[in-house]
Order: sequence, then C-alpha cells, then structure tokens
Amino acid sequence: MLRLRYQTPSTWQDAVLADLNAFLRDHAHAERKVASSAMALAGQHHRRPELVAEMIDLALEELTHFKQVHDLLVARGQTIGQDGPDLYMGGLFKQLRRRDVNEYLLDRLLLFGIVEARGCERFQMVTEVLPEGPVRAFYLELTRCEARHHALFLRLARQFFEADRVEERLDALLDAEAEVVAGLVIRSALH
Ligand SMILES: [Fe+2]
Ligand SMILES: [Fe+2]
Repeated sequence: MLRLRYQTPSTWQDAVLADLNAFLRDHAHAERKVASSAMALAGQHHRRPELVAEMIDLALEELTHFKQVHDLLVARGQTIGQDGPDLYMGGLFKQLRRRDVNEYLLDRLLLFGIVEARGCERFQMVTEVLPEGPVRAFYLELTRCEARHHALFLRLARQFFEADRVEERLDALLDAEAEVVAGLVIRSALH
C-alpha cells in the first residue's frame, strides 16, 4: 500500500458520524465522478487497449458503487443532493502537466492511484466507528476495492513509463496531495 504523507485525524471520523447522510451524499458524487474519469481515460487512449479495457472495468465497478451508495441513501429517505465544489480534486488537478500527452497520462494515473489510496484510508476509518450493519459492511467491502484500484493505477503507470520517472513524479505528487488534504476543512465528506 502506498504510504500517504498526511494521516487523517480522528476528528474527521467524528464529523462523519455526526452527519452520516452528508457523508453518503458526498461519497455518491465521488463515485459518479470517478466512473466518469475512468471513461474519459478510456476514450482518450485508444492506442493502449489494455488501459481501455481496465478503465471500462473500473468505470463499471465505480458506477456500481454509485448505485450502491444511492440505494443506501434512498433507504434512509435521502437523495444524492447537489454536488458542491470539490476542493480536493480541484487542488490535485492543478498538479497535472497538460503540455505533453504522455506526461498528462502519467500524472493522471499516479494521482488517481493516490486518490484511491486516500479513499482506502478513509473508508477503513469509517468502518472503525460505524456500528454493525449494512452501511459498515458496505464500507468494509469498499476499503478492499480501493486498495485494489490504487494498485491498478500504480501498476499501469509502471507498465507504461520508466521506473525512475514514475518514482520521481510519485514522490512529488504524494507531497502535493498531503498539502492539499491537510488544507481542507474537516467535514462530513470523503475529502
Ligand atoms: Fe468506488
Ligand atoms: Fe475506487
């Protein structure tokens, strides 16, 4: 597992517990957006059929997660609500180098890998404080999915790019992610 450089404090768990519905709403939108990012990658890299195949599978899985969170919300008498500004992803996207198609791909693979690792950390933390029940069971399953997704992105980055280049960029992006996440207000949301 990737070693993230900012550890989420337990006050974040308190915020989630204090308003679980708000957390679920935000998480629903996060799943929707990650499915659409995977579809975008698939559409932009037709010369890398292995990447396209992996992104189709990932999009299907993330879309299923979107459906599952939506079902949980409906069962609780909630809707997904309106999506707000995403300061976390917005901050991360500022790190993307867009001049060169390969640099851009490397950055996105690594950033998405880091985002999945952050999801893994946070879903695990949710399972630590939720009571037994369907929501906790769901987050236990998602913790495992995010660990697998994070490994997928890192594997693809290492498959397509030289090891030194990957490690150097990963090092910089891990620092950037830690800075972005440390600067966010703690609230009942995935980030
Ligand atoms: Fe997901
Ligand atoms: Fe994921």
